[in-house]
Amino acid sequence: MSLDVSAILNRIYESFQSLRKEIDCAIACISGGVDSTTSAVVAKKVLSDKLYGVFIDTGFMRAGEGVRVKEALRSLIDIEIYDFSEEFISRVEGLEDAEEKRKMFRDLFYTAVKRIASEKGCSWVVQGTIKADIVETVGGVKTQHNVLTEELLKRYGIRVIEPLADLYKHEVRALAKYLGLPSWLVNRQPFPGPGLLVRVVGRVYREKLELVRRLTTVVEEKLGDKGFSQWFPAVWEYNVVASGERDGLVYEVHGVRVTGVTSGKRNYGYPAIVRKVPANKDMYSIHREFDTVTHPHVLVEVEHRGTGEFVVAIRAVITQDFMTAEVGRLSPDELRSLAKEIMDLEPKVKMVVYDVTPKPPATIEYE
Ligand code: XMP
Repeated sequence: MSLDVSAILNRIYESFQSLRKEIDCAIACISGGVDSTTSAVVAKKVLSDKLYGVFIDTGFMRAGEGVRVKEALRSLIDIEIYDFSEEFISRVEGLEDAEEKRKMFRDLFYTAVKRIASEKGCSWVVQGTIKADIVETVGGVKTQHNVLTEELLKRYGIRVIEPLADLYKHEVRALAKYLGLPSWLVNRQPFPGPGLLVRVVGRVYREKLELVRRLTTVVEEKLGDKGFSQWFPAVWEYNVVASGERDGLVYEVHGVRVTGVTSGKRNYGYPAIVRKVPANKDMYSIHREFDTVTHPHVLVEVEHRGTGEFVVAIRAVITQDFMTAEVGRLSPDELRSLAKEIMDLEPKVKMVVYDVTPKPPATIEYE
């Protein structure tokens, strides 16, 4: 069934109109993803010069992101870049627990938002929360950094406008296209609110973060034309805590916590890495050989060398709504070529692995 985008837009404008008198002015936090950008462009149409577009550099964004987004949206909305990277990184450095990281990030983020809004004399903030963010947070899959309870709104002293809160991703993309956003942005893969933070798996420190940032550029570029919905690298330390062999299937378990979904709720386990897939098995079915509550992410080794300290996990998925996802398939040659490029560029990488677990039982991200 085709979507009636102009009806969706009219509905959003109507709900905005009822708030309009109350709004002194607002800042729209734009991260460069389709959700926040679309919500900012919709809000701009209603609030005009009472809306300020801002990009908060949290230090966990992709390389060059702020400038790229500002340039691309020049004709639609003016964006001011605020660099909070040092503040964010120094506060998050040393944290290890996934939820603790997310909560700290959220706190830093809204403290920054509040500061910018106060500087502009605005009480309101426009953000690009969509329906899946709310469903997954309320359902217990994770703490989305942008889903705020009444208590949090009071704590930060801001008032939030979420024009897209009733929409799913494909509806947001249709709306973005209708509003004339550039097509690379309309179809852009989602990027989590806490950014690279949830891909620096386990303890956060600068060297690991910068490695993830550099690898993100490589992986986004190399897998950009494969038709995947989301594709990215994540990094953790090589730390084998158990290993085993069953019918020629050789595997090891790493000592870092990663997230999965069981019966609609988040669970934590340890990644299992298959060192050698037996000739009679299909690597894309191999996760079925594991207890996925204990091992929510099952990965297959692509390259390995004697030196180095980091594991690079490559994740690529195909999905419509991001609530469930299937694994994107790459041929052994494609995988080897990507792994070789990573190994050549990054001497501290010991192992490159490919994630072969759908969602559920895995999540798309690792934390
Ligand atoms: P998971 O890992 O839960 O992710 O399967 C589902 C989708 O949501 C994105 N994601 C987030 N987006 N704030 C966001 O705005 C967050 O905190 C967050 N965590 C995950 C993820 O990248 C995927 O597209």
